[in-house]
Amino acid sequence: MRAIQFDSFGDPSRVSRCAELPEPDPPQGDEVLVRMLVMSINPADLLTIEGRYGAAIDLPYIPGAEGVGRVEAVGEAVKDLVPGTLVIPLGRGCWRELMLGRRAEVVPLPDGIPVEQAAMLKVNPATARLLLRSIVDAKPGDWVLQNAANSAVGCCLVQTAKSQGIKTLNIIRRANVSESLEAIGADAVIVDDGSDPDRLSAAVREVTSGATIELGIDAIAGPATNAMASALSDRATIANYGLLSGKPCEIDPQHLVFRGLTLRGFWLAAWMRAASSKDLQAMYAELANDVAADRLHTAVEARYPLEDVAEALAHAGRSGRDGKILLTA
Ligand SMILES: NC(=O)c1ccc[n+]([C@@H]2O[C@H](COP(=O)([O-])OP(=O)(O)OC[C@H]3O[C@@H](n4cnc5c(N)ncnc54)[C@H](OP(=O)(O)O)[C@@H]3O)[C@@H](O)[C@H]2O)c1
Repeated sequence: MRAIQFDSFGDPSRVSRCAELPEPDPPQGDEVLVRMLVMSINPADLLTIEGRYGAAIDLPYIPGAEGVGRVEAVGEAVKDLVPGTLVIPLGRGCWRELMLGRRAEVVPLPDGIPVEQAAMLKVNPATARLLLRSIVDAKPGDWVLQNAANSAVGCCLVQTAKSQGIKTLNIIRRANVSESLEAIGADAVIVDDGSDPDRLSAAVREVTSGATIELGIDAIAGPATNAMASALSDRATIANYGLLSGKPCEIDPQHLVFRGLTLRGFWLAAWMRAASSKDLQAMYAELANDVAADRLHTAVEARYPLEDVAEALAHAGRSGRDGKILLTA
């Protein structure tokens, strides 16, 4: 079977290759064999291949945090899945044709969910939902401020917040994506590069007429964290969940000491490790229903076959994309 593999850390498009590997053994006991169809490329995959991600791995390694496939065969203990069922694996290493895992490590999906949307369900929709749900108790009518708002997480957050009546104030760095954000439900959009705290807080005050904002969601880090802090209300919380700038979070201690702000992190992988199997299956069932009902949609910019992985990874690493890059098996 074909699988994407890398033997050393480095530039993803240079070190990754499409390798021919032995097929997994037939499933035994509670195992499930999945034939992968579509897999997405996320910033975390690029960080993993560069050797900058939070999880330790052994080389050679098959990357890929998410994708979708159909059940090919099941072990004798698996009674509730039949060949042909569409599933998402919860484990890593998805960029391969055949994936063997335990029954608890796959989530069956409802009929009617578009296959490409299913391939992008595990990471970003879940992250957006948990950022809105688990950091502060955001209620209908509350404002939430986020940066990198046109990212997949950002767009999922806009759609999820809209359906819950929570208002989003969205910071982007390219003016030409503001219409598409408004089209999916963004309440307000600000174009700002996060370099000037006074400029950002003045823009935020103007848009919200000085309303309280208790939650800031930061994917960028570096000076953008400090600019976000300036624009939030006293005692607000910033959840940093990304390192897009490649820099440490900067925050003026004035915000922490005198204004009582909290800066904390969020990592989906840690949440998933701590969650029960019942909670995981329930959250993904909820997200899958939203996708099937078209309440949640992630844009796609391009698709590449596994053999063209170098081109796909170079494309995924470029700024100014208007959607995800997908790999097809
Ligand atoms: N902690 C977690 O559990 C978790 C889970 C999922 C995702 N994430 C993180 O969330 C972030 C977004 O992921 P995604 O998959 O949603 O992204 P994506 O769809 O691939 O989009 C990338 C986004 O990052 C922006 N960007 C790239 N470099 C930037 C920079 N130097 N400064 C400011 N903005 C920059 C892009 O802006 P342009 O369009 O203008 O280029 C775009 O909005 C990533 O950092 C990812 O690692 C974290």
